Amino acid sequence: MSALPSLPPVEGSDPARSVLDSFRISIAKRVADALPPLTVEQVYAGVDFGKKGVDFTIALPRFRLPGKVDELAGKVISSFQADDYIESVSHDKAFLHFMCRTSTLVRAVLTQVHTLTHDTASGLPEYGSNELGKGKKVLIEYSSPNIAKSFHVGHLRSTIIGAFLANLYKACGWEVVSMNYLGDWGTQFGMIAIGFEKYGSQEELEKDAIKHLYSVYVQVNKDAEADPNVKIEAAKWFRRMEDGDEDALKNWRVWRELSIQKYTEEYARLNVHFDVYTGESQVGKKWQDKALERLDEMGLITDVDGAKLVDLEKWKLQKAVLRKKDGTSIYLTRDIGGAVERYEKHQFDKMIYVISSQQDLHVAQFFKILKLMEYPWADRLEHVNYGLVLGMSTRKGTAVFLDQIIREAANVMHDQMKKNEEKYAAVEDPEHTSLEIGITGIKIQDMAAKRINNYNFSWDRMKSFEGDTGPYLQYAHVRLASLARKNPELFPLPPPADVKTDTIVEPAARDIVFLLGTYPDVVKTALRTQEPSGIVTYLFRLSHAISSAWETVVVKGEQDVEKAKARLWLYSNAREVLGAGMRLLSIRPLEHT
Ligand code: ARG
Repeated sequence: MSALPSLPPVEGSDPARSVLDSFRISIAKRVADALPPLTVEQVYAGVDFGKKGVDFTIALPRFRLPGKVDELAGKVISSFQADDYIESVSHDKAFLHFMCRTSTLVRAVLTQVHTLTHDTASGLPEYGSNELGKGKKVLIEYSSPNIAKSFHVGHLRSTIIGAFLANLYKACGWEVVSMNYLGDWGTQFGMIAIGFEKYGSQEELEKDAIKHLYSVYVQVNKDAEADPNVKIEAAKWFRRMEDGDEDALKNWRVWRELSIQKYTEEYARLNVHFDVYTGESQVGKKWQDKALERLDEMGLITDVDGAKLVDLEKWKLQKAVLRKKDGTSIYLTRDIGGAVERYEKHQFDKMIYVISSQQDLHVAQFFKILKLMEYPWADRLEHVNYGLVLGMSTRKGTAVFLDQIIREAANVMHDQMKKNEEKYAAVEDPEHTSLEIGITGIKIQDMAAKRINNYNFSWDRMKSFEGDTGPYLQYAHVRLASLARKNPELFPLPPPADVKTDTIVEPAARDIVFLLGTYPDVVKTALRTQEPSGIVTYLFRLSHAISSAWETVVVKGEQDVEKAKARLWLYSNAREVLGAGMRLLSIRPLEHT
């Protein structure tokens, strides 16, 4: 292929990572040339993806140029010359529509996907990634369940969304520190200590610490209903813990350790990882004291019978207790101290808390307090919130433990797979496969809509291979992977420069290619919105496009070997991008069932 026309550099574009930027620049240049005094940069910012059947569109009114839009459009159209980037322009009222030259598009996009997947300096696939966060550090806190209380679906959402954000920020060049802030402190540990004397069993504890501590907690709470002394004793016990009384802390340490062990195993199954396990217990007293002192100096604290209150009514954030009468610390104060401590330690450029919208007030309060304390980094904190999951219980009852949810997902999926006897017989490792597909089903359902929406969890939808579901996505990936296995005679494929991409002309194939080209943009948008749903939607669009091409753009049975190879290359690039998007969502793409 002859050399492509040269293009001016444009601020904010990155053709080496997103080759569609070249096509956008080419469009911008034409329009800027035809409509002075517009600059290429100005037009570039206005080159949008087109609607059905159109590659790119420009809405002329956005430039606020003098003159009628028809005349402006006329100028662009009359001076238009096709080249290897842009093939045609058309005009529809205030809109200019542009089409890319298919042969260039196919070659450029597929070559880029291939190169940035297989030939990177890091040795890792990089297609879709960018350097927006280069040199910057983000702390992302997510999951953060409470030891001894149930890991509820709200924590699962935080885990899923947080893991996605950690992957996303990494893909965008940020240095990421992922953090799990356990609810491992508070009066409830006094309760458990009291309860453990009566109901505890070392054996049960070692078998499943999370479940056992929870059951002790439930039982001692029942006792407390009948006998008010239990709560008093528990508070005393916690007071001793706060004072660092080693006797009061000994058991607690073991509970914490065993719970973390168990969680770590379950997170691994979910393909979720944390750089740091910390928790409310780890927040230094000194930081909390400092915070209180400072707020006091600023005249923001009132003393009510020995309890310390901060008045945030002025900002419609109510009054909040920062320290109890008996001097013990509370959740809010720990978050304030914790943030200060984290900054001292990590000097982050951004810190994200992935916490349910049920805690919007709490988060707004401690963000506000940090601002009032005039920490210069206080505006680097972000709350990524999310709505409720309704109706996620196991078939037998209410799911309170993470491992129950995971097991249930695997079982539901396994039963579903058994329904198709023929297919089931071909599955190599049904246990593993059903687990992975089940987890994918949960994750996709969780990330399919905007975070803030509540949603009704449905096992039926989760397990379905039809519609926009996790199983469908895994199936699409497996089908692409199997294409290579089923056509061994076409290997090795030629190097990218020798693939006969000109044979790829079908509209269905072109649709796939264009979608592959948009992936870097989809990643950037996800970073801006911090929404996984954009990636999910994209992956379904891509899977649908692949599925539409499947019958017409065939590999097996194509007589022209060069053409068959080009098509196989197209599908294998599609598979790379589908897999990359799935991994970004923390899903492990399956190679076969
Ligand atoms: N452990 C808390 C809960 O389960 C969530 C912690 C959220 N993170 C925070 N920094 N407050 O409700």
